[in-house]
Amino acid sequence: MQGLTVGEVARRSGVAVSALHFYERKGLITSHRTSGNQRRYDRDVLRRVAIIRAALALGIPLSEVAHLLAGLPKGAVPSREDWRTISSRWAETLDQRIRLLQKLRDDLGGCIGCGCLSLTQCAIFNPGDAAGQRSSGAVLLMETTENEWGNPEDSTELP
Ligand code: FES
Repeated sequence: MQGLTVGEVARRSGVAVSALHFYERKGLITSHRTSGNQRRYDRDVLRRVAIIRAALALGIPLSEVAHLLAGLPKGAVPSREDWRTISSRWAETLDQRIRLLQKLRDDLGGCIGCGCLSLTQCAIFNPGDAAGQRSSGAVLLMETTENEWGNPEDSTELP
Protein backbone atom coordinates (compact mmCIF):
# COMPACT_ATOMS: atom_id res chain seq x y z
CA MET A 1 0.00 0.00 0.00
CA GLN A 2 1.52 3.30 -1.10
CA GLY A 3 -0.42 6.09 0.65
CA LEU A 4 0.22 9.79 1.07
CA THR A 5 3.41 11.27 2.48
CA VAL A 6 3.10 13.66 5.39
CA GLY A 7 4.04 16.50 3.02
CA GLU A 8 1.22 15.57 0.65
CA VAL A 9 -1.27 15.44 3.50
CA ALA A 10 -0.02 18.81 4.75
CA ARG A 11 -0.34 20.39 1.31
CA ARG A 12 -3.76 18.94 0.57
CA SER A 13 -5.23 19.61 4.01
CA GLY A 14 -3.61 22.97 4.68
CA VAL A 15 -2.33 21.71 8.03
CA ALA A 16 1.33 22.00 9.06
CA VAL A 17 3.43 18.84 9.18
CA SER A 18 4.11 19.47 12.87
CA ALA A 19 0.35 19.61 13.53
CA LEU A 20 -0.14 16.31 11.67
CA HIS A 21 2.54 14.69 13.81
CA PHE A 22 0.82 16.11 16.88
CA TYR A 23 -2.55 14.68 15.77
CA GLU A 24 -0.90 11.33 15.24
CA ARG A 25 0.72 11.37 18.68
CA LYS A 26 -2.75 12.09 20.11
CA GLY A 27 -4.20 9.13 18.21
CA LEU A 28 -6.43 11.27 15.99
CA ILE A 29 -4.88 9.99 12.78
CA THR A 30 -2.73 6.98 12.01
CA SER A 31 -0.05 6.14 9.49
CA HIS A 32 1.80 3.05 8.41
CA ARG A 33 5.44 2.56 7.43
CA THR A 34 6.83 1.61 4.05
CA SER A 35 9.53 -1.02 3.69
CA GLY A 36 11.96 1.92 3.76
CA ASN A 37 10.46 2.99 7.12
CA GLN A 38 8.80 6.08 5.66
CA ARG A 39 5.51 7.28 7.10
CA ARG A 40 2.45 6.99 4.82
CA TYR A 41 -1.19 7.91 5.36
CA ASP A 42 -4.28 6.33 3.86
CA ARG A 43 -6.62 8.64 1.94
CA ASP A 44 -9.17 8.69 4.73
CA VAL A 45 -6.72 10.86 6.66
CA LEU A 46 -7.76 13.94 4.65
CA ARG A 47 -11.37 13.67 5.77
CA ARG A 48 -10.29 12.94 9.33
CA VAL A 49 -8.06 16.03 9.31
CA ALA A 50 -11.02 18.05 7.97
CA ILE A 51 -13.11 16.82 10.92
CA ILE A 52 -10.29 17.76 13.34
CA ARG A 53 -10.06 21.25 11.82
CA ALA A 54 -13.82 21.68 12.09
CA ALA A 55 -13.67 20.61 15.73
CA LEU A 56 -10.89 23.10 16.47
CA ALA A 57 -12.86 25.89 14.79
CA LEU A 58 -15.82 25.03 17.04
CA GLY A 59 -13.72 24.74 20.20
CA ILE A 60 -14.40 21.01 20.58
CA PRO A 61 -11.70 19.42 22.78
CA LEU A 62 -9.31 17.09 20.96
CA SER A 63 -10.06 14.38 23.53
CA GLU A 64 -13.68 14.38 22.32
CA VAL A 65 -12.56 14.33 18.69
CA ALA A 66 -10.30 11.36 19.43
CA HIS A 67 -13.21 9.54 21.03
CA LEU A 68 -15.45 10.16 18.02
CA LEU A 69 -12.81 9.28 15.44
CA ALA A 70 -12.00 6.08 17.33
CA GLY A 71 -15.60 5.03 16.75
CA LEU A 72 -15.25 5.24 12.98
CA PRO A 73 -14.22 2.18 10.97
CA LYS A 74 -10.42 2.00 10.65
CA GLY A 75 -9.14 2.97 7.21
CA ALA A 76 -12.60 3.91 5.96
CA VAL A 77 -13.28 7.44 4.79
CA PRO A 78 -15.76 9.06 7.20
CA SER A 79 -19.03 9.23 5.30
CA ARG A 80 -21.54 12.05 5.04
CA GLU A 81 -23.66 10.12 7.52
CA ASP A 82 -20.70 9.92 9.93
CA TRP A 83 -20.25 13.66 9.62
CA ARG A 84 -23.98 14.26 10.14
CA THR A 85 -23.85 12.21 13.34
CA ILE A 86 -20.71 13.94 14.61
CA SER A 87 -21.86 17.46 13.74
CA SER A 88 -25.26 16.99 15.36
CA ARG A 89 -23.55 15.77 18.54
CA TRP A 90 -21.28 18.82 18.47
CA ALA A 91 -24.29 21.08 17.96
CA GLU A 92 -25.68 19.72 21.26
CA THR A 93 -22.28 20.29 22.92
CA LEU A 94 -22.22 23.88 21.66
CA ASP A 95 -25.80 24.46 22.85
CA GLN A 96 -24.81 23.28 26.35
CA ARG A 97 -21.72 25.48 26.29
CA ILE A 98 -23.75 28.50 25.15
CA ARG A 99 -26.24 27.98 27.98
CA LEU A 100 -23.37 27.70 30.50
CA LEU A 101 -21.68 30.83 29.14
CA GLN A 102 -24.97 32.77 29.23
CA LYS A 103 -25.42 31.72 32.86
CA LEU A 104 -21.85 32.78 33.68
CA ARG A 105 -22.40 36.12 31.90
CA ASP A 106 -25.57 36.70 33.90
CA ASP A 107 -23.77 35.77 37.12
CA LEU A 108 -20.90 38.05 36.19
CA GLY A 109 -23.37 40.94 36.14
CA GLY A 110 -23.48 40.71 39.93
CA CYS A 111 -19.69 41.11 40.08
CA ILE A 112 -19.60 44.42 38.22
CA GLY A 113 -18.69 47.08 40.73
CA CYS A 114 -18.16 44.51 43.48
CA GLY A 115 -14.60 43.24 43.28
CA CYS A 116 -14.78 40.96 46.34
CA LEU A 117 -13.90 37.74 44.47
CA SER A 118 -15.11 35.97 47.60
CA LEU A 119 -14.73 32.23 47.29
CA THR A 120 -17.96 31.67 49.18
CA GLN A 121 -20.09 34.59 47.97
CA CYS A 122 -19.11 35.44 44.39
CA ALA A 123 -21.36 33.85 41.76
CA ILE A 124 -18.33 32.85 39.73
CA PHE A 125 -17.19 30.60 42.58
CA ASN A 126 -20.76 29.79 43.58
CA PRO A 127 -22.22 27.77 40.71
CA GLY A 128 -25.87 26.98 41.06
CA ASP A 129 -26.24 30.05 43.31
CA ALA A 130 -26.19 28.11 46.58
CA ALA A 131 -25.74 31.40 48.46
CA GLY A 132 -28.72 32.85 46.61
CA GLN A 133 -30.94 30.25 48.27
CA ARG A 134 -30.05 31.85 51.62
CA SER A 135 -30.76 35.45 50.61
CA SER A 136 -31.51 37.82 47.77
CA GLY A 137 -28.89 39.47 45.53
CA ALA A 138 -28.84 42.78 47.38
CA VAL A 139 -28.27 41.03 50.69
CA LEU A 140 -25.61 38.89 49.07
CA LEU A 141 -23.80 42.02 47.91
CA MET A 142 -24.01 43.46 51.43
CA GLU A 143 -22.73 40.18 52.91
CA THR A 144 -19.95 40.18 50.37
CA THR A 145 -18.92 43.72 51.21
CA GLU A 146 -18.98 42.88 54.90
CA ASN A 147 -16.89 39.79 54.29
CA GLU A 148 -14.40 41.76 52.26
CA TRP A 149 -13.72 44.04 55.21
CA GLY A 150 -14.52 41.76 58.09
CA ASN A 151 -13.13 38.41 57.00
CA PRO A 152 -10.12 38.66 54.70
CA GLU A 153 -9.56 34.86 54.78
CA ASP A 154 -12.80 34.56 52.84
CA SER A 155 -11.55 36.68 49.98
CA THR A 156 -9.19 36.23 47.08
CA GLU A 157 -8.62 39.98 46.91
CA LEU A 158 -6.19 41.19 44.37
CA PRO A 159 -3.13 42.94 45.86
S1 FES B 1 -16.78 39.84 42.61
FE1 FES B 1 -18.37 38.45 42.17
S2 FES B 1 -19.85 38.86 43.72
FE2 FES B 1 -18.15 40.11 44.24
